[in-house]
Amino acid sequence: MRGYLVAIFLSSIFLYYVLHCILWGTNGYWVPPVEMKSKNIKKCPKKPAFASLLKFPQFYPFLCATDFTKIASKYGTTNFVLPYGIKGSVEYFRVVLPKLKNCALFDEFDNVPCKRCVVVGNGGVLKNKTLGEKIDSYDVIIRMNNGPVLGHEEDVGRRTTFRLFYPESIFSDPVHNDPNTTAVLVVFKTQDLKWLLDVMSGARINTHVFWKMPALKLIYEQYQVRVLDPYIIREAAYQLLHFPKVFPKNQKPKHPTTGIIAITLAFHICSEVHLAGFKYNFNNPNSSLHYYGNATMSLMNKNAYHNVTAEQLFLKSIIEKNMVINLTQD
Ligand SMILES: *[C@@H]1O[C@H](CO)[C@@H](O)[C@H](O)[C@H]1NC(C)=O
Ligand SMILES: *[C@@H]1O[C@H](CO)[C@@H](O)[C@H](O)[C@H]1NC(C)=O
Ligand SMILES: *[C@@H]1O[C@H](CO)[C@@H](O)[C@H](O)[C@H]1NC(C)=O
Ligand SMILES: *[C@@H]1O[C@H](CO)[C@@H](O)[C@H](O)[C@H]1NC(C)=O
Ligand SMILES: *[C@@H]1O[C@H](CO)[C@@H](O)[C@H](O)[C@H]1NC(C)=O
Ligand SMILES: *[C@@H]1O[C@H](CO)[C@@H](O)[C@H](O)[C@H]1NC(C)=O
Repeated sequence: MRGYLVAIFLSSIFLYYVLHCILWGTNGYWVPPVEMKSKNIKKCPKKPAFASLLKFPQFYPFLCATDFTKIASKYGTTNFVLPYGIKGSVEYFRVVLPKLKNCALFDEFDNVPCKRCVVVGNGGVLKNKTLGEKIDSYDVIIRMNNGPVLGHEEDVGRRTTFRLFYPESIFSDPVHNDPNTTAVLVVFKTQDLKWLLDVMSGARINTHVFWKMPALKLIYEQYQVRVLDPYIIREAAYQLLHFPKVFPKNQKPKHPTTGIIAITLAFHICSEVHLAGFKYNFNNPNSSLHYYGNATMSLMNKNAYHNVTAEQLFLKSIIEKNMVINLTQD
């Protein structure tokens, strides 16, 4: 008899809780798995304008030591070599990932579910547009490579939420470190993982395996560093840019630029994406390539590793379809 009373009491408490949750529209009766909680994803109920471009909009963009092999099998990332998958480099990932202190997407106190994001390209078009204040007004600001903020605040803003980089493209001067930035390594080749391991442990870097001098020291603290899931790069290449899976023997395979990879990342973590600094002026070889430094467009014209034409067509189409907004209008 007492057993029945306890059971009735307990089930009424449970029923009350479920009703409470339904009434108040919370999902308190659904406890997210620990894995999801530690990855800190807030779901936005609004469907973004670019949702139709993605196969798995909820895909978590960073690799975590605890489950990267499981996720890789689930999404077929085990069948592709770098930069599109982990095939042949699993052991490197297995050594590097546990060294990172954190694989979270946002700060644990961040509770904005629908994020307005701006992806800031490094294009010379940003010069003298005084977009800095506007750029700083977004929830999330994604920059790439060594596009500096320092000295260019009026044109490009001060804040950086994520900075995508690879060993040959990252700052080596610590003046550029902003403690609020998460630095995201885009892994193009196995040596990039070896490099990360070496810079984190202060070991000597073997520089001759890189196409350009890599950074010899990491200006970021370990808690700031993440590794981008290669699936994001595969998605940029095949799903968004529709690159062929095989290239003719006499051609180097083309891969997406960091800029397009940054936009693909933004599509997974933002509900609105705006772009700035994504225009190249191909008509004038003397025009500035970047908003910083002295490089001119003439340096850009031939690039064996990327297909800039395909990228420009893609950008034009997503702007025309209003999937993203182009902030650097003339
Ligand atoms: C930007 O403004 C500076 C100073 O007014 C000027 O010297 C420079 O030529 C301008 N650059 C561009 C690309 O308009
Ligand atoms: C980092 O974020 C904190 C808290 O939002 C802010 O007070 C601080 O000014 C930021 N630092 C930089 C360098 O932006
Ligand atoms: C580019 O600069 C060169 C040398 O300064 C000049 O001869 C040429 O006319 C310029 N081209 C354009 C399109 O401005
Ligand atoms: C760009 O050119 C100016 C003038 O020629 C020079 O003073 C400056 O050091 C150059 N900047 C870089 C980053 O090379
Ligand atoms: C680059 O992309 C364009 C548009 O998709 C395509 O027509 C062209 O053949 C590609 N070029 C190379 C070298 O892959
Ligand atoms: C953004 O708009 C400007 C002005 O219409 C245009 O010149 C530029 O090419 C656009 N950017 C992209 C990436 O299409």
